[in-house]
Amino acid sequence: MTVLAIGANGQVGGEVARLLAQRGICVRALVRDSAKAKPLAALGIEIVEADLAEPSTLARAFSGVDRVFLSSALDPSQVELQANAVEAARNAGVRHVVKLSGLGTALDSEVASGRWHAQTEERIEASGMGWTHLRPYFFLQNLLQMAPLVANADVLPNSIGGAAIAGVDARDLAACAVGALASDDHFGLAYDVTGPEAFTYGEIAEVLSKRLGRAIRTLELKPEIARARMIEDGMPEWHADVLEEFAACFTRGGGAPVTDAVLQLTGNAPRSVGEFIDEHASAFGAAG
Ligand SMILES: NC(=O)c1ccc[n+]([C@@H]2O[C@H](COP(=O)([O-])OP(=O)(O)OC[C@H]3O[C@@H](n4cnc5c(N)ncnc54)[C@H](OP(=O)(O)O)[C@@H]3O)[C@@H](O)[C@H]2O)c1
Repeated sequence: MTVLAIGANGQVGGEVARLLAQRGICVRALVRDSAKAKPLAALGIEIVEADLAEPSTLARAFSGVDRVFLSSALDPSQVELQANAVEAARNAGVRHVVKLSGLGTALDSEVASGRWHAQTEERIEASGMGWTHLRPYFFLQNLLQMAPLVANADVLPNSIGGAAIAGVDARDLAACAVGALASDDHFGLAYDVTGPEAFTYGEIAEVLSKRLGRAIRTLELKPEIARARMIEDGMPEWHADVLEEFAACFTRGGGAPVTDAVLQLTGNAPRSVGEFIDEHASAFGAAG
């Protein structure tokens, strides 16, 4: 069996490729820039350069592939890029696609990226190929974007108030993808993929305070202020809009339901937010 890992220079796709190789499953990594894929090549993983925006580059990448992990960046062009991947997979006779979707995946979602993911899921389901959809709400790794503020100002900003999020470590999500790719047991199933608990930013601040030995406080930003700041910092408007929609969805409780998808797909318990913070304590400014 050969698996094609798309987005393999990215966070989840790279981990999927590494874990597949670790399990001795033949994996080919699709990347746009093979120079960035040297760490994967060093593990003996086959690297193929291709661009989802250039359908003519895809036939070679998909040739001889049985299963595909499908992920690309959060981007308004995602539907078109992933449609090209689905078409190439179908033409190559692929029998199973594991698709990374996300928060609020539905054709009528109030979250734009949820509509994008749902359109791709619909296309995969209509293709006749086997499918499994993974729908995490939030990666624990997102907390690292706030680590400099925690480290330098003891502040954890957010704009979701007391709402809870059942975030998952991106490495556990990747392990779920590998679990799905390695068997036929998950055909036709969609999983909301979460960590072991839902946490509020107040609870994360408490965990950080205990671990770091100093008081970390949350800083509640009104969504429109958070959006204006992100745009001031150079974020494209579409991206700030999507993040504002995520915040609204989390505030309504859309990211709170905890599932046992990681256990079902991998046989292992997911990492907790406490474990994640312990592991990355130095990024949050732990002494020593
Ligand atoms: N962050 C979260 O909390 C969260 C939660 C739920 C779902 N998600 C979903 O997770 C996905 C992103 O996962 P991630 O964190 O692994 O993203 P990432 O680290 O940004 O990786 C995305 C990869 O996609 C590749 N890519 C982009 N355009 C491409 C193209 N035209 N052809 C081939 N490859 C292309 C990128 O290649 P380059 O390296 O060349 O740029 C990159 O390696 C998004 O779909 C998002 O909706 C994220």
